[in-house]
Amino acid sequence: MPSPLLSIHQLAVSFHSETGPINAVRGVDFDLQPGERLAIVGESGSGKSQLMNAMLGLLAGNGKGSGSAIFAGKELIGASERQLNRLRGSDIGMIFQNPMTALNPFLRIGTQLTEVLRQHRNISRRAAREAATAMLERVRIPEPGRRLRQYPHELSGGMRQRVMIAMALICAPKLVIADEPTTALDVTIQTDILQLLGELTTGQSLIFISHDLPLAAGLCDRAAVMYAGRIVELGSIDEIFRQPAHPYTRALLRATPGQPGQQQEALFTIPGQPPDPAALPTGCAFHPRCQAARKQCREQTPVLREISPGHWNDCLIDIDP
Ligand SMILES: Nc1ncnc2c1ncn2[C@@H]1O[C@H](COP(=O)(O)OP(=O)(O)O)[C@@H](O)[C@H]1O
Ligand SMILES: [Mg+2]
Repeated sequence: MPSPLLSIHQLAVSFHSETGPINAVRGVDFDLQPGERLAIVGESGSGKSQLMNAMLGLLAGNGKGSGSAIFAGKELIGASERQLNRLRGSDIGMIFQNPMTALNPFLRIGTQLTEVLRQHRNISRRAAREAATAMLERVRIPEPGRRLRQYPHELSGGMRQRVMIAMALICAPKLVIADEPTTALDVTIQTDILQLLGELTTGQSLIFISHDLPLAAGLCDRAAVMYAGRIVELGSIDEIFRQPAHPYTRALLRATPGQPGQQQEALFTIPGQPPDPAALPTGCAFHPRCQAARKQCREQTPVLREISPGHWNDCLIDIDP
């Protein structure tokens, strides 16, 4: 095994609130190899974004990350703002759900693209301009010369997301993190953007965050399923779909339309609600919604176990598929 590009160990995020701590991420472990594409999936509120924010030093003021996230040999948790600034946008490219929050509304697209480059690479204004034009061509924005002179509000949602991808990739990052990059877009545009993202990140490591498991599966090699701030199952896309081991993963798949052998009208919904991270159930956080739950599920703390090479599950009971 080559050494991982990213190694996360016992990463946790807690937010301060007047009514007590909110444990949004509770001890996450995984490695990402160079060139590998990992999906992080789970319902809204499961801690996907805060996990990434902790790594990138982007937590809100009331949040605190702990544990370890080693990227290319450097510890990110507790790193200085200066160190993180140097990484963000250069070795780590980021694409978010809403391009309008990431783009500056007062600056032309061209200025924003060339600034990213000039901040991280020692190149002339002219070379940066040429690179920006080439990058817009790569994300298939027609008339790149004209687009460079425009402001974000002059572009459609899909075009803005292409600009976001261009900004994230312009410094050829080792790792690309895309957090629900198509959730705000029309379904018809979604597919194009995902395909583009897949093509343009060939050979780079990718963390693709989504609440949509099948969508993520189309782009990634492995998936980590998150529930209430923990990874409950981690495995290849094939294992997750064909041999889901955790009752939550199984429930997610049953709740997904278009799975083999499924009747459209019989679409399953997971009973109950995801837990409030300020008041988590004891034991396995999924137990109140789990049809297989037993006494130990309320009492014991789950730990991810490797059930076959590379396939991890933290369910406390062994269930036959
Ligand atoms: N600044 C904050 N203060 C308190 N709680 C927060 C804060 N930011 C996020 N949270 C909580 O952390 C949990 C995980 O959020 P998040 O990682 O954004 O979920 P998602 O999986 O949808 O990306 C949520 O319950 C959210 O309400
Ligand atoms: Mg999120």
